[in-house]
Amino acid sequence: MKKITIAIDGFSSCGKSTMAKDLAREIGYIYIDSGAMYRAVTLYSIENGIFTGTAIDTETLKQRINDIQISFQLNPATGRPDTYLNGVNVEDKIRSMEVSNKVSPISTLGFVRQEMVKQQQAMGERKGIVMDGRDIGTTVFPDAELKVFVTASAEIRAQRRYDELKAKGQEASYEEILANVKQRDDIDQNREVSPLRKAEDALLLDNSHLTIEEQRDWLREKFQSVVNPD
Ligand code: DC
Repeated sequence: MKKITIAIDGFSSCGKSTMAKDLAREIGYIYIDSGAMYRAVTLYSIENGIFTGTAIDTETLKQRINDIQISFQLNPATGRPDTYLNGVNVEDKIRSMEVSNKVSPISTLGFVRQEMVKQQQAMGERKGIVMDGRDIGTTVFPDAELKVFVTASAEIRAQRRYDELKAKGQEASYEEILANVKQRDDIDQNREVSPLRKAEDALLLDNSHLTIEEQRDWLREKFQSVVNPD
């Protein structure tokens, strides 16, 4: 069966990673969480004194951007890929509130985006990939055979994120998360380089009232209709 490229974009915490990961596993495709890459750059910047308080030392980050190696390795315990930063598993650290609060300004930097897009395109060279993010259908893989744009209300997304953190035993405040979700929406949609927007040829999925299973079925059906149109 021919391999295709699948681009899944949408707002933060809208469940797109879950559906993208599940589909990739089911159809034997590589799954790449592009947001994890921006999170890894953010973590690197925090840990190396490049991002302190609200200030980013962009000159230093620019000099070091090529020293930031991001990769993914399947975690046999979860069946999903973990994110590695310069060889160290940072999957948990990149999901912390501190990184969540600081990732948007990092992802507005043109030179950071340029480097990430380059790495993402290299990962997708041979197709057979599901990538999720904000600019996958518009910038990274404009020729993807299947593009989906996922959305849900900010309150529902904040609740999901809250439940996720609680389930992991992490401290969380719903109000803080909601404010973070709204702030990220605003930055993601209004930044100059590759703002979040639906590609014209992307299918729209509002999953506010869908279960994970319903979303999975929806996506599988769209995939089937692209690879097996008859
Ligand atoms: O999907 P996420 O919440 O883990 O993404 C983290 C941040 O990275 C989010 O604020 C938007 C940014 N991002 C981006 O700018 N482009 C992408 N392709 C993926 C994420």
